Amino acid sequence: MSWTKEGLQELVKTKLTDRLFAVVSNREPYIHVSSVDEIQCVVPASGLTVALDPVMRACGGVWIAHGSGSADREVVDDKNRVSVPPDEPCYTLRRVWLTKEEEEGYYLGFSNEALWPLCHIAYTPPNFDEAHWNTYKRVNQIFADAVLEEVGDSQAFVFIQDYHLALLSRLIKARNPQVITAQFWHIPWPNPEAFRICPWGEEILDGLLGNDLLGFHIRYHCDNFLETVRRMLESRVDNERSAVNRGGTTTLVCPFPISVDFHRIARDAAKAEVTEEMEEIRRRWELGDEFIGIGIDRLDYTKGIPHRFRALDKFLAKYPEYQERMVFFQLGEPSRIHIKKYKELNAEIDDLVEEINWKYQSANWKPIIYVREHLSPTTLLAFNRLAHFCIVSSLHDGMNLVAKEFVSSRTDEDGVLILSRFTGAARELTEAILLNPYATDDFAESIRKAIKMPKEQRKARMRKLRQAVEENNIYRWAGSIISELANLGL
Ligand code: G6P
Repeated sequence: MSWTKEGLQELVKTKLTDRLFAVVSNREPYIHVSSVDEIQCVVPASGLTVALDPVMRACGGVWIAHGSGSADREVVDDKNRVSVPPDEPCYTLRRVWLTKEEEEGYYLGFSNEALWPLCHIAYTPPNFDEAHWNTYKRVNQIFADAVLEEVGDSQAFVFIQDYHLALLSRLIKARNPQVITAQFWHIPWPNPEAFRICPWGEEILDGLLGNDLLGFHIRYHCDNFLETVRRMLESRVDNERSAVNRGGTTTLVCPFPISVDFHRIARDAAKAEVTEEMEEIRRRWELGDEFIGIGIDRLDYTKGIPHRFRALDKFLAKYPEYQERMVFFQLGEPSRIHIKKYKELNAEIDDLVEEINWKYQSANWKPIIYVREHLSPTTLLAFNRLAHFCIVSSLHDGMNLVAKEFVSSRTDEDGVLILSRFTGAARELTEAILLNPYATDDFAESIRKAIKMPKEQRKARMRKLRQAVEENNIYRWAGSIISELANLGL
């Protein structure tokens, strides 16, 4: 059965009945920022918010998140709420305010300098700082207070997102035991050897086991989690049911591969404004009939951006006939720039782009065009449609929705996806050219293969890729989670 927005709405009506539906995440789906003399509403580069926004549009309810924009306070009411999306308001965004110190310790410090590298095997060591951990705990309590303000004593269903809020479910249930919580961990869960270096690992596991349901993208991450719990915590792990029993409460641990709103992206990609933007890009960059490659990423060291540049370098050196015949657009959204590792990554990317372009460029051509800025959804769709090939070369990635967005936007059934085997997406998108981003020579060959792939083969593969995303869309993801909770008799 193909899941639709209407199908999900029906399910929510029958299963959740009159329970309030609340989503909680660190990142908010809409950020208000002041620019010159107006307030702009920006959509952040976050797989999590891209995926959850259509679910909230379908289900309604309240989304509780950190208000991080410079004009966020100016647009909320006296309860810190604002209706979103701005073009067709249909759910409430409740903003949580944090001080700079709280943001530093909880978001930059513990979430992104400790948990992020701990869970992604990308060979960046985590930094564990006790002061960050204490702030993380305090901020989880701040979020819990905001959730409790929204749900009161009701039997709400609270859907917690990601690694920023590992302690939340127990904090909520301590004050309102009627609340049902599910949590989705959007990043990988590593094996027990990798996880056990975290000094507060037991508290994190215990916090997550406060949930009725815990979701990961793939079975492999669920198995890693169950094995970690078995080794580190006093509990009963039931591998057959994929559940953990601790202190009388049970948490079901299941895979739910996240996705995108396939039909909405396809519809948006076909809009006249996207076609006009494609023309504008062609004009701006004086494009002729070159092969166009794209990479669209948050500038993060898990994305394997230097690895892809090294492969492009190899490709141009080995196949010089493609010099002046291929242009690669790297679209990079600055991210977590106050963290040292991210600063270093930015410098490494700048150096590599400069070095490779210097090596091959001619009077009217350079191989890599690097656009380091926030781009609008329309511009991103235009690039997706212009591309002959799209590279996703993550060193480790829970899912990767850039790959699924590329596929959804290709209503022309053309374009080749080059995809790292180390993404969750590679399990479903098997008709992509799959690769190991560390194997530079093979990577260079994959670029050649993408460029040389005959049209019929491109079409056949893209058709299958599109079927996979259409079938396993975001409504199926949310629907499966809600159905699973309903099966638990909650
Ligand atoms: C990943 C995380 C999300 C996060 C996103 C963007 O996808 O799983 O939770 O929102 O990165 O990162 P940021 O730090 O900007 O929210």
